[in-house]
Amino acid sequence: MKPNYLADRTAMIDASGIRKVFALAAEMDNPVNFSIGQPDFDVPDALKQEAIKAIETGFNRYSQTAGDEALKVKIRSMLQQEIQWNDAGVLVTSGVSGGLLLAFMALIDPGDEVILPDPYFVIYKHLINLLGGRCVFVDSYPDFRLPVEGIRRSITERTKLIIANSPCNPTGMVYAREELEALARVASEHDLIVMSDEIYGQFCYDGAYPSMAQLYDKTLLLRGFSKAYAMTGWRLGYAAVQDCLQPLLEEMIKIQQYTFVCAPAPFQKAAIAALDYDISDLVAIYRTKRDLLVTELSGTFDLATPGGAFYAFVKSPQGSATEFVKKAIANNVLVIPGNVFSEQDTHFRISYAATEAEIKRGCDLLRACARS
Ligand SMILES: Cc1ncc(COP(=O)(O)O)c(C=O)c1O
Repeated sequence: MKPNYLADRTAMIDASGIRKVFALAAEMDNPVNFSIGQPDFDVPDALKQEAIKAIETGFNRYSQTAGDEALKVKIRSMLQQEIQWNDAGVLVTSGVSGGLLLAFMALIDPGDEVILPDPYFVIYKHLINLLGGRCVFVDSYPDFRLPVEGIRRSITERTKLIIANSPCNPTGMVYAREELEALARVASEHDLIVMSDEIYGQFCYDGAYPSMAQLYDKTLLLRGFSKAYAMTGWRLGYAAVQDCLQPLLEEMIKIQQYTFVCAPAPFQKAAIAALDYDISDLVAIYRTKRDLLVTELSGTFDLATPGGAFYAFVKSPQGSATEFVKKAIANNVLVIPGNVFSEQDTHFRISYAATEAEIKRGCDLLRACARS
């Protein structure tokens, strides 16, 4: 029973899935940690220096609500070059999570429906529930491709938004251009907004990812700095739109004014340099990790080869995913059961943001669990 001083909305969200995993993990001794959602490298030194310089030269006050002007100019010119968006509307957010909250607050009334492929990034579900929206999950098992036909069938009068996340957390899938084009056709027939969460955009191992933003005008683009530059604690991301969604961006800015106020100011200065910082050598290292993981697990486990991010979503070889995860944890490997990211409990998520030695050790342990 919740204490009666708590608002009813607190009962609309549930943190128990992840909490249970970490409770089980508390006893582990030198575990292989395949649960972490951030890269295993640190912020590149050059970018740390930019942040230090910004602090030392006085960029310590509030920035404009929508973000530091120089950063917005930089983002706009990058979007122009990369996806040919002219003069995009840009809002610098406190991480993509901040952008998600602002977007959902600006879009979702109680009872509104949001369509999202299942499995999904966990924050979507809980924020939508918190706002009284209704998640409409569209199964993307077993190959985790974008389930466009299922999305089409799920559209109703109450549909407000479709979410696409590519490269995807937790599956590592990168949607093909044709899949996104098909989604654009469906969304356009019903005049729906697509929110494209591209936080893992730099982590693509088999060629660059196509961006929904290039294919559909009514795309709310969300991108972040957390993963590419290992700045998860710096809390930086951005939202961008074309003219047709400018009213949405204006409302998000208004809500930012009364909530986050602005994204962390000195880090916004460092983000300008980050956008010119080449991480291709780090991505190459992550491609090697992806290949190693797939080699180590195939044969024993059923997994759809991930093309991006740093996750694999692997089928439990026996029983429910939760049962298998308990066994894995008892054998010193920390993975997350799929029901944290899904309405079903058949798979588990591996984050291979670890050293090659740890990936090998973890895969040996997982194979031993599958055999026992
Ligand atoms: C798909 C996806 N979107 C958004 C986020 C939020 O990232 P941040 O708020 O650090 O930018 C994450 C973090 O794990 C993620 O996996």
